[in-house]
Amino acid sequence: MRVLALSGSLRSQSLNTLLLKEASRLAPEGMAFTFWEQLDDLPHFSPERDEDPLPPAVADLRARFHEADALLFCTPEYIHAMPAVLKNLLEWVVSSGDCVGKPAAAWSVSPSLEGGARAQASLVHTLEVMSAKVVAEASLCLSLARSGLDGDGRLKDSDQAASLRGALNRLHAQMAAS
Ligand SMILES: Cc1cc2nc3c(=O)[nH]c(=O)nc-3n(C[C@H](O)[C@H](O)[C@H](O)COP(=O)(O)O)c2cc1C
Repeated sequence: MRVLALSGSLRSQSLNTLLLKEASRLAPEGMAFTFWEQLDDLPHFSPERDEDPLPPAVADLRARFHEADALLFCTPEYIHAMPAVLKNLLEWVVSSGDCVGKPAAAWSVSPSLEGGARAQASLVHTLEVMSAKVVAEASLCLSLARSGLDGDGRLKDSDQAASLRGALNRLHAQMAAS
């Protein structure tokens, strides 16, 4: 089963992107990850641009959404919400309907104690408005600093690694049931 992993950060050393890579290593057997790393290539959404020929990054994004069995988002918190770049990405997949009914897990990572919980809540809200099947039991807000990962990007804390495994297993179960 194919999971499309989407980070809400453009930073080259993004904790959110690193955590998605770690998730791909902790995922249960049978869960294959695809990473979409063209966030910086997406133009600003406008309904007037949402027609053929689509901008190449948008066409690629929609193709990846279409072929995915589930979506896994991991987002930073910017000003108590998901970053504008991630909201922009979601605006591009409204008219294609590729979120509708698709199992989705919303994760957030921040060094703050709440682990970016408000960004995660804003992401969940948007996904629900878009009729994605948000898997609440696969959600995660992780309080994590760079020091919480080793040089290979592996989680140092075994409890945090177990939280990731648990969330991934629950997403996998939902995918199997869908
Ligand atoms: C413009 C800006 C706004 C931010 N606002 C918040 C915030 O409201 N709450 C929070 O917990 N962290 C906030 N942060 C911190 C980021 O969420 C944090 O640095 C996160 O780890 C960045 O994710 P990344 O490492 O994947 O890029 C903000 C950072 C920036 C640059």
